[in-house]
Amino acid sequence: MATPVAWIWLIGAGVGHLCLVVLAVNVLHSLGWRSHWIESATLAGLGLVGLASLGIAVWALGVGPEGWGGPLGAYGALAGVVGWVGLPIVTVWRLCRRPPVGLRRVSVPLPMAGEPRSCYIGDGPGSRILRLPGNQSLEPRLDELSVVVERLPRGLDGLSIIHLTDLHLAPCYDRRFFEEVMDLAAGLEPDLVLVTGDIVEHDDAVSWIAPVLGRLRGRLGQYAIVGNHDFRHGEAAVRRGIAAAGYVDVDGLWHTIETPAGRIAVGGTSAPWGPDLTRQGMPKAGLRIVLSHSPDPFPRIARWNAVDLMLCGHNHGGQIRVPVLGSILVPSRYSRRFDQGQFRRGRTLMHVGRGLGAKHPLRWNCPPELTRIVLRSPVAMGSAGSVGSGHAAAAEPLWAGYGGRGLWPRTVFG
Ligand SMILES: [Fe+2]
Repeated sequence: MATPVAWIWLIGAGVGHLCLVVLAVNVLHSLGWRSHWIESATLAGLGLVGLASLGIAVWALGVGPEGWGGPLGAYGALAGVVGWVGLPIVTVWRLCRRPPVGLRRVSVPLPMAGEPRSCYIGDGPGSRILRLPGNQSLEPRLDELSVVVERLPRGLDGLSIIHLTDLHLAPCYDRRFFEEVMDLAAGLEPDLVLVTGDIVEHDDAVSWIAPVLGRLRGRLGQYAIVGNHDFRHGEAAVRRGIAAAGYVDVDGLWHTIETPAGRIAVGGTSAPWGPDLTRQGMPKAGLRIVLSHSPDPFPRIARWNAVDLMLCGHNHGGQIRVPVLGSILVPSRYSRRFDQGQFRRGRTLMHVGRGLGAKHPLRWNCPPELTRIVLRSPVAMGSAGSVGSGHAAAAEPLWAGYGGRGLWPRTVFG
């Protein structure tokens, strides 16, 4: 029988084993598979590993750790170290993280008109999930970021961007949910509208793309890429929907926008599922923005030392965030590292949005997100005469953009 000390060690090994299984699931979901079958087979394999580990745990409790030998003993030691040392260190490090310098965040609930919120639930598969008590999937928030971009041309100071990601349009929602979010975003009168993929989740909702996204316009244009889920619901039809909505598809290429204050370059990539973006062909510009469905290319793109802003989605913030621990299931090769929020490496600031929808629309401590970003030039801050229409809003409280709706409850970070 296991001694008390062995019990303590076994608990740590069990926690560490769970951490390693979650890590494997997260990394496997970042590998660029487009097929449901490969994904399902892998998950079934991991399920078998989970069942086998239960059996091993029962046996281990009988013989104690001293009875473990060979590879099983080595794995048990590794799992114990992960559970008792690795997880606490990572957790403390995540809790102590601070937002990047030069960034201010304000988060407010979107003032959705529908009451009760169940009026936004459709009748498609997954609609029962939306009815679960405590599910935040129908409680979107507006996250507003004011970002100092070191090399931003003076004339682009105040440029405002609406960033949308991971809508996962599907009939489990009533289409009015998305239309209302788009109308509220349009009321903020952005300069640019940027969408980073996973637009649809159901074949029946491909026809929603144009009427939903088409409600939102940017003064300087609208740009989009697709995400891994879009490849599962007719990539060509999704791209046609993006074009019909009036958006420029920048997947795998760069597009330039000429303004009186200088050129803006917008590039896009849906790698590893779709086309990648390379430095070759990167235009000269005063401001370069990259749309990437997954945040995984961030370290590589940051090394270019040429991109000012990178916008991503895919990770949904983990959807379920446990107090203290935070996210758990995050489909990234870096696992939970870039689950949501803002990260800076050198010149490049990356924002990872939590997304608006989800394949499995269950969210807890992780509400859907619409993002407004106002870029600030350190040279021009406080001066007039810039192209960006968000200049005044950046100087004033950001939520002032919703004139007539009053001040909402707000959370200020950074
Ligand atoms: Fe997604």
